[in-house]
Amino acid sequence: MGGIFGLACKFSPSLDVISTGLKRLLYRGHDGVGIVGIVDSELVVKKYPIRSDKALEELRFFNISSKIILGHTRFATHGRPSLENTHPLLDCKGKIAVVGDGIIANYEELKDLLIQKGHSFSSRSDFEVIPHLIEEELDKGNDFLQAFLNTLRKLKGIYAIATLWVKENKIYGASMGEPLFIGKGEKCLFLSSDIPSLYGFSKEAVIINQGQAFVLTPQEYMVIDVKKGNIVKELTIKRVKYPAEVIDKAGFPHYMIKEIYEVPEAMLRAVAVVQEKYLNLVAMILHSARDIYVIANGTSLHAGMIAGYYFRDLAKLNAHVISAAEFPFYGLENVSIGTAILAISQSGETGDVLRAIREAKMRGGVVIGVTNIMGSRLTLDSNVYLPIGAGVEMAVPATKTFVSTLIVLGMLAHRIGVLRGIIDKSDERNFVEQVKALSFTLKKELGRIEKMIKGNVEIFKGWDRCYVSSRGINFPVALEGALKIKETAGLQAEGVETGELRHGPITLVSNGYPVIMIAPYEKEAKISSWKVASSVIEYGGKVISISPPDVNVVGYHVEIPETTKFLSPIASVLPLQLLAYKLGVARGMPIDHPRALAKAVTA
Ligand code: AGP
Repeated sequence: MGGIFGLACKFSPSLDVISTGLKRLLYRGHDGVGIVGIVDSELVVKKYPIRSDKALEELRFFNISSKIILGHTRFATHGRPSLENTHPLLDCKGKIAVVGDGIIANYEELKDLLIQKGHSFSSRSDFEVIPHLIEEELDKGNDFLQAFLNTLRKLKGIYAIATLWVKENKIYGASMGEPLFIGKGEKCLFLSSDIPSLYGFSKEAVIINQGQAFVLTPQEYMVIDVKKGNIVKELTIKRVKYPAEVIDKAGFPHYMIKEIYEVPEAMLRAVAVVQEKYLNLVAMILHSARDIYVIANGTSLHAGMIAGYYFRDLAKLNAHVISAAEFPFYGLENVSIGTAILAISQSGETGDVLRAIREAKMRGGVVIGVTNIMGSRLTLDSNVYLPIGAGVEMAVPATKTFVSTLIVLGMLAHRIGVLRGIIDKSDERNFVEQVKALSFTLKKELGRIEKMIKGNVEIFKGWDRCYVSSRGINFPVALEGALKIKETAGLQAEGVETGELRHGPITLVSNGYPVIMIAPYEKEAKISSWKVASSVIEYGGKVISISPPDVNVVGYHVEIPETTKFLSPIASVLPLQLLAYKLGVARGMPIDHPRALAKAVTA
């Protein structure tokens, strides 16, 4: 992920404009800022490979007299935060500059081909292939637009880019799945990764739809269909209406709800961010490991528990899933050469995880990190790591990173299953297709689910506690739902395996006690769960059932989309995240920053 902000003006604008735009895009990436302009027919590049908010402070002291400027704030997915990996990225001759947002999925093969042709690379960023590909196309005699379009046709992935070429006072850009918008001011035309950042600069935003490229000059812009190469005449225009103070939340009142609505997009990115080479390597390590420990804390631990089901069902691998806090006492002593440790941490900075993997490595274990943050300690201390590509998650309650972790671990389990001959390659391909299909469905359904959940908040009136229950592959979702309700809504919530509910917890159920039941995916488990739900009602409890359409459903039904067993935890967790959020709002809780919690518990 990353944020792109650019402008083409009739005069040389103050850098304050680009700085304001980038500041509003900080939520898209915090790993460094870069800008580029054209002065005396040369590219002038300035990069700040430091935290982006600090970088923007430094930018105030830089001067550039260029009518065209592109700026970028980076979220590191390929290559740690460093000078060479900070955008803009240049071609061999330093004449073409590119800034990008998203993921170029086939960059490895393109990079190999370009290196064979004599191109030299200076970064580890996937986006660096783009200026070199354009350079190749220009050398063939194409004009810049043609070279740009030909390059886009070679790229796979989900991304948006903007480009400068020293010979023209124009910005060339394209949206291939990540957003880009054009704004029209009196003396400048603007380009940005979101609409709210254009506030104060432009009244309207032209949407660059997926598969469209554009050319921007100080006077005008032109939008082109990348596949067909023709000019697009019918454009969608939106009003720029968010006040500056809510810009970084894109109009949402809290980061948490914004991030829940980003889940469908994060799902697609998780699929795109996984690189074949590393997936194979990690699959091979786990396949040949003598024993496997999955360690994590909080939400990441719940994702790890679900991964335990994935590994068992898809690859016939038994992994010990254990809290990273507990691992040093029960687990570590068994670690030696031949042990693999899968360490999950969205922040990559959680103290319990980092301490555990250091010890494990000292005993000869191989550590595989799974994280959202490139350049985090986990990426540095692991032997190998898999990024989850969820994009920046600002709210302390983790939402979209839980989902992205599940997808990456689901892909991993499938790869191991294929390697071990347990499942077919087609099962693996289907999983990816099912992820895409669910992402599409959730994008349509989230609003409806939120409305249904809104009505359920009343059930909690007068209660400061509840149970969240499920079984089978969705049992860890019940634990995750309870955690989310605790930290976001400030209620005492307990996650209970549905069978266990009858072995003690049910004794507390009386007069309206709220019990949230997540329908298990497994048929037998589902039938028995509805029976338990009925007895909860008999004892006076109120049941909210989260389930796909089902004739036997008990209590207040929150309908979720039907999906596969391995993706059912994703469909089930979203209503719980939304419920926790709605309850928190109703109770006036500090949603994004719960008391005594931080995004990364480093101590
Ligand atoms: C999640 O909502 C919590 N804030 C917390 O449990 C978190 O998941 C835990 O601290 C682990 O964080 P990590 O994934 O960054 O390691």
